[in-house]
Amino acid sequence: MASARQRLIPANETAALDARLLLSFVIDQSTAWLYAHSDSLLTPEQAEKFTHLIEQRAAGTPIAYLTGTRGFYHWDFVVTPDVLIPRPETEHLIEAAQAWLQNRRGEQLKIVDVGTGSGIIAVSLALLFPQAAVTAIDVSPAALEIAKLNAGRLGAENIRFREGNLLNGLSNDFQVDLIAANLPYIDHDEMLTLEVAKWEPHLALDGGMGGLDFIRDLLHQAPTYLKPGGLILLEIGADQGAATRQLALEVFPNVVVKIQQDLAGLDRIVSIQTLE
Ligand SMILES: C[S@@+](CC[C@H](N)C(=O)[O-])C[C@H]1O[C@@H](n2cnc3c(N)ncnc32)[C@H](O)[C@@H]1O
Repeated sequence: MASARQRLIPANETAALDARLLLSFVIDQSTAWLYAHSDSLLTPEQAEKFTHLIEQRAAGTPIAYLTGTRGFYHWDFVVTPDVLIPRPETEHLIEAAQAWLQNRRGEQLKIVDVGTGSGIIAVSLALLFPQAAVTAIDVSPAALEIAKLNAGRLGAENIRFREGNLLNGLSNDFQVDLIAANLPYIDHDEMLTLEVAKWEPHLALDGGMGGLDFIRDLLHQAPTYLKPGGLILLEIGADQGAATRQLALEVFPNVVVKIQQDLAGLDRIVSIQTLE
């Protein structure tokens, strides 16, 4: 364990935690169990697997791609390099959706999650609101497979999956109460300088020049599909609040736009409330 930690120290700041997480993954025990059994020996197979994982981690591979899961909201989701690793900031979007949907519990709600990736938004909302009908869309067939896997493992049955470009694949008479989306929003040039771009799918990160290409396109499509009184919830980059508000007001002149900060105090979730 100490040598694994040492091996990771030059590569990342969370060496001790990473080594513990990988060890607990290899022996299939909690990290708390490790503290109580620090003198237990690994089998040769476990030792070999652990060493291999430590090498991959030292080379920069994100922990979630090594262990194959990441916790989000109340659940563990399967992740592979085909999908973005769930971020804690996105939990604010779930909280905002929950607060809004809470008052509509008796209704036959329709929700769409655009750019579903691993399915964290669609599956979480489907589980929290079993009476709602959720549609999860992604342009990536590989991502959709992971989202379907997560829905199946977590028992979300009120969800269907569509491959498509934003809302294009939906029929024009399909009307929804809530559009939720965490689309790619990183500026194209900035993305190329970021460590995450080495590991996570560019399709999940690259929002074009300025980062707002997908958010702009989605907002332009939204009036066709959103019921009067419906809500749009978008995750955005920290410097995109004002521009997103402006885009929303261009498309929907009479809406209430609110911007919510994440725990770091950065603009993160935009809510666009349309009128009845
Ligand atoms: C930032 S990731 C978010 C994934 C997941 N919703 C989450 O919050 O972790 C963006 C997702 O949008 C998908 N995507 C990119 N362009 C798209 C498009 N034109 N239409 C639909 N989905 C798209 C990507 O494949 C990726 O899964």
